Amino acid sequence: MKTLTITRPDDLHLHVRNGAILQTVLPHTARQFARAIIMPNLKPPVTTVAQALAYREEILAAVPAGLDFTPLMTLYLTGSTTADEIKKAAASEHVHAFKLYPAGATTNSDSGVADIKAVYPLFAAMEQYDIPLLIHGEVTDDACDIFDRERVFIDTYLIDITRNFPGLRIVAEHVTTTEAVQFIKDADANIAATITPQHLLFNRNAILAGGIRPHHYCLPIIKRESHRLALVEAATSGNPKFFLGTDSAPHLTSLKETACGCAGCYSAHAALELYAEAFERADALDKLEGFASFYGADFYRLPRNEGTATLEKTAWTVPPIYGENGLTITPLKANEELVWKLAKG
Ligand code: NCD
Ligand code: ZN
Repeated sequence: MKTLTITRPDDLHLHVRNGAILQTVLPHTARQFARAIIMPNLKPPVTTVAQALAYREEILAAVPAGLDFTPLMTLYLTGSTTADEIKKAAASEHVHAFKLYPAGATTNSDSGVADIKAVYPLFAAMEQYDIPLLIHGEVTDDACDIFDRERVFIDTYLIDITRNFPGLRIVAEHVTTTEAVQFIKDADANIAATITPQHLLFNRNAILAGGIRPHHYCLPIIKRESHRLALVEAATSGNPKFFLGTDSAPHLTSLKETACGCAGCYSAHAALELYAEAFERADALDKLEGFASFYGADFYRLPRNEGTATLEKTAWTVPPIYGENGLTITPLKANEELVWKLAKG
């Protein structure tokens, strides 16, 4: 059997929620990854170090016995965040970044930043205390076509932010366009990006052609094929500015399969398998380890993980749902066959 062994990987962009959903999804991630950057868009959002530490305990309590998993916490940036909280966050060994959600851009972003220029003093504090800024890079303007929102964000905000805060470490999260790939490649070494499995595997036909498929709907929305190709090229190029961030974003099946469905794809059940499929199709399996296990850790100045993860070339069928008692989540590739399988550790 063909196998692929890599250093244990990290997921640098993950939503695990809380309560019953956390219990369902966390075991999947803990099997796959040593660490994950935990997104703070709970209801209410995680805005203080104290809240992040409490959330961290809740996550740790959901790690199955025998698995070794470390949550890397982030704080949700709002118009009311203080420079003092930024200083505290930078000093905390458990908090690793701030997340900027433009208000209204995505799931639970109502508390996000309405006026990005108004929080420039906070970016200055992050630059001073050397804590990374993670950006959901989409404009929220109703007049802007949903497929253009990332590109317009780069031109309207991202270029200006990087010019004004040249020392600030920034991750453009879940990039989806050729323009974002080009921007990251041209930017300084302190500007990086995460790429999701769905944006490597699918183009927008997967959402809309032959029927509407809500489980492929996430934000930023999946774009046309030329963008997918640019993302595959970036992820498999060995450029350390691009690293793994699943953006696995669980929503109850009932809230996805409805007249106004939530944005987010659930991929934690098979994250490495999905990436391996994308890398293998690009004939670049040898580039998976850097993308999955080295570049993210290096960017966040964390030690690279000890230990390994092994994938086997064994077909298996993804279950239709995970969870129980009506609290079910439909995974990416539900009922479909995957060609790679993570070996039991
Ligand atoms: C994420 C979620 O559900 O929290 N949804 C998504 O479509 N990606 C939020 C986000 O990362 O935009
Ligand atoms: Zn996300």
